[in-house]
Amino acid sequence: MPVNKPPNSRKILVAVAWPYASGSRHLGHLAGAYLPSDIFARYQRAIGNDVLMVSGSDVHGTPITVRAETEGVSPQEIVDRYHGEFVRQWDALGFDWDLFTTTGTANHHVVTQDVFLRLHEQGFIDQRSSEQFYDPEAQRFLPDRYVEGTCPHCDYKEARGDQCDNCGRTLDPIDLIEPRSKMTGAVPEQRTTEHFYLRLGDFSDELRTWLESREGWRKHVLNFSLGWIEEGLHDRAITRDIEWGVEVPVDGLGDGKRIYVWFDAVIGYLSASKEWAAQQGEPDAWQQWWQNDDAEHYYFIGKDNVPFHTIIWPAILMGYGDLHLPTDVPANQYVTFKGGKASASRGIGLTIGDALDRYEPDALRYAMAANLPETSDVDITESELVRRINEELVATWGNLVNRVVSMTHRYFDGVVPAAGEGSDADRALLESIDRTLDEAAGNLAAVRLRAALATILTGAQATNQYLSELEPWKTAKTDMERTGTTLNIALQAIAGLAAAFAPFLPATSATVLTTLGLDVSARQPAWGRQEVATGTTLGPAVPLFSKVELPADED
Ligand code: MF3
Ligand code: ZN
Repeated sequence: MPVNKPPNSRKILVAVAWPYASGSRHLGHLAGAYLPSDIFARYQRAIGNDVLMVSGSDVHGTPITVRAETEGVSPQEIVDRYHGEFVRQWDALGFDWDLFTTTGTANHHVVTQDVFLRLHEQGFIDQRSSEQFYDPEAQRFLPDRYVEGTCPHCDYKEARGDQCDNCGRTLDPIDLIEPRSKMTGAVPEQRTTEHFYLRLGDFSDELRTWLESREGWRKHVLNFSLGWIEEGLHDRAITRDIEWGVEVPVDGLGDGKRIYVWFDAVIGYLSASKEWAAQQGEPDAWQQWWQNDDAEHYYFIGKDNVPFHTIIWPAILMGYGDLHLPTDVPANQYVTFKGGKASASRGIGLTIGDALDRYEPDALRYAMAANLPETSDVDITESELVRRINEELVATWGNLVNRVVSMTHRYFDGVVPAAGEGSDADRALLESIDRTLDEAAGNLAAVRLRAALATILTGAQATNQYLSELEPWKTAKTDMERTGTTLNIALQAIAGLAAAFAPFLPATSATVLTTLGLDVSARQPAWGRQEVATGTTLGPAVPLFSKVELPADED
C-alpha cells in the first residue's frame, strides 16, 4: 500500500558539500559526498519524512582564480563551465536535489553579509593586522593556493597554502617550509596587511561540550574534531587579499579584500535553504528546518572538510544564534586509485564524466555505493567496478527480475497468478524479505549505506535460492497451481526488493515497480513491500542492466 505522509513526518536537512566549480569532479567526490546524500535523502523521503536537500557550486576563492589565471580567462567563465557540467552530471545520475544553486547568487551574498555583520556586532569578528606572503615580482599578496611549499606536519613537498593534500591538515600559507609563489615561482616575502578574524577560541568550551554530547557519530569524525579543540583553537582570518568573492560588509580594510571562501561556502547551507523557500513562494519555510529543535541536519562531506563542518560552521551558527546545529556529520574517508588519493587537479582517478561515458547511471551508482569509504579509505580499480556490476547487479538482481517476469509471460500470459496454499518455503521467503527491509532501514537511518546495500543484495540472493529450490520451470510441466504460487511469491519478493533498492537505483527500481503494476507516482516510492495484485498484467520483461567489459588498458 502506498504510504501517505504521516502527520508527524520529521524535517530532515540533507546538506551536501559544495563542489568547487574549478574543475571536473571525480569518483572520489561522487563516493565521498554526492552519492551518499542522494541515497540517504531518497530513503528519508521513502519513509515519509520532509527532506530538504541543498547544495551548489562553490564559486569563490583561489581554486577558481588560480584556474582562471592559468587559462587566461575570467573566473566567471570557469564557474559557468563547471557549474554547467555538474548540473548535467547530477541529472544523468538521477540526483533528486531540492536545490542545487551556486554561491554566486545575490541571495547568497546577502545572507553571507548578514551573518558576517551579526557576528561582527556580537564581537565574534574583529580586525587585526597580520603577516601575509607577498610576491615581489607579481606585486601582490598571495592568499591560500597561490603559495606552495613543504608541509610542516608531514614533509609533503607539494602542499598548498590552504591545505596539505597528503596529510589533510588545514594550513596557513605562512607555515609552509620553503614557500614559493605559484604565480612566478619567486620566494614570497612577508608583509603586513589588515584582515577580519573569527574569534574561534571564544567557542572552545561550547564546541567541546556540544561535540561530547553527540551520539552515534563516526569515530574518526568525533576524534578528529575533539583533537582539534584539544590542540587549541586559533582565531582565523576570514577575509583575504583577493578580488573575487563576497564583499566585506564593514569598512576598514581598504580595497582588494573579500570574504574568505570557506566562511561564505558553509553559509551556503542556510542561504540555499532560503533560496529554496523563496522559490516555493513560502519565504519563511526555511525556518521549519533551521529554527525548529526537532529538525535533523545531516552533512555529507569528505574527510578533508571535517573541521569546517564540525568546528568552524558550528561556531558560526552558535555566534549567530537560534540556528540548528549539525545532527550528524557522517564524513567519508578517501577513495584511492591504485593507492593514490583521487585528485581532480592531479588527474588521478576517473572523472564523473568519464565514468558516465562507460557505465549506465544506476550501474555506476551501484558499484560506487558498494564501495563507499565509510569506515576506511577504499582503493578502487575499474575491475572492481566491473565485477560489482556483472556479478552482483546483473547476475543477482537484474537476472532475477528478468527471469521471473519472463516466466510469468511464458506460463501465465503475463498475468500475475494467484498464490495458492502457501508452503513453509513461501512464507519463509517473504519473512526474510521483510527482515531484509527492516535491517536495511536500520542501516540507512544510521548512514551505513554500504551495509544497507549488502543486506538488500542478500535478499535478492535468497529469492534466487528460493527459485532454484522450487524450480518453477520444472513444475510448469506438471503442476500449474504450484508454479503460479512460486511466481506470485517471487513477484512479491521482487516488489519489496525494488522498493529497497530504489534509494540506490532510482531509475531501474521505478522500471521494476511499473512492470509489476505498482504505483510510482510519489517522488520516492514508499519504503516497504507493496502487494502485487493477482490478475495484474505485467509489463514486458526488459533487461534492467547490461553486462560491462573492462576497458582494454585497465586491470
Ligand atoms: N568547495 C569545497 C571542496 O570542494 C567544499 C565546500 S563545502 C562547504 O572541497 F560547505 F563549505 F561549502
Ligand atoms: Zn601534510
